[in-house]
Amino acid sequence: MKSALEEATRLGLDADPMPLKKHGWFNYQHAEAAIVPLLKGAKVIIEIGAWMGLSTAWFVDQGMKVVSVDHWKGSPEHQKGAGRFDSHRVLPTLYEQFISNLVRKMIASHVFPMRMSSKEFFGLPVTSQPRADLIWIDGDHTYEAVREDIVGALDYWCRPRVAGDDYAIDGVKRAVTEVASDRGIAVGHGHGKWWFEW
Ligand SMILES: C[S@@+](CC[C@H](N)C(=O)[O-])C[C@H]1O[C@@H](n2cnc3c(N)ncnc32)[C@H](O)[C@@H]1O
Repeated sequence: MKSALEEATRLGLDADPMPLKKHGWFNYQHAEAAIVPLLKGAKVIIEIGAWMGLSTAWFVDQGMKVVSVDHWKGSPEHQKGAGRFDSHRVLPTLYEQFISNLVRKMIASHVFPMRMSSKEFFGLPVTSQPRADLIWIDGDHTYEAVREDIVGALDYWCRPRVAGDDYAIDGVKRAVTEVASDRGIAVGHGHGKWWFEW
């Protein structure tokens, strides 16, 4: 696994990063209120869906190493014509922006980008899958995609805790509650975040 710092060097962004761009959806106050207890004793987190690294930076601030899984192509809602904002405009350089932001914040050595879809990541041989204490799900928010991510996370080889963002989105809530019911797991939620209780 290569760190974001190694990626920055490979891309020539270590000495000349893009200007910092603070765009994302992760709410730090809500995270502090809802998920700090989930992180107790955790050292490594796998996040599905990193965008420009807002959530990534918060997890690093909590003292964690972060494995960021994202294809950096944007979710369905970020594509041209679908977005509420002009999010599609940033897609061509989204990965470079993510790496640059980490360099600017001087946290690139704490982050390990895995540039692939979550499906590809969960399909990797176990020898290529990092050990983690928590998998955080904030990728594609459609019902089918969230369901696949949750199942991949629950079946992950080292049995990390599983939690995610955007419980208020219908597809997310439905996927979370259905899988929880199928598997007999209790769900906790608050401040828009959700987690499986165990
Ligand atoms: C809502 S954004 C993540 C927001 C981010 N956590 C933050 O703090 O602002 C969703 C991200 O998931 C990524 N994504 C969407 N579908 C994906 C998939 N199937 N596999 C991996 N990443 C995906 C997109 O490229 C996008 O960067």
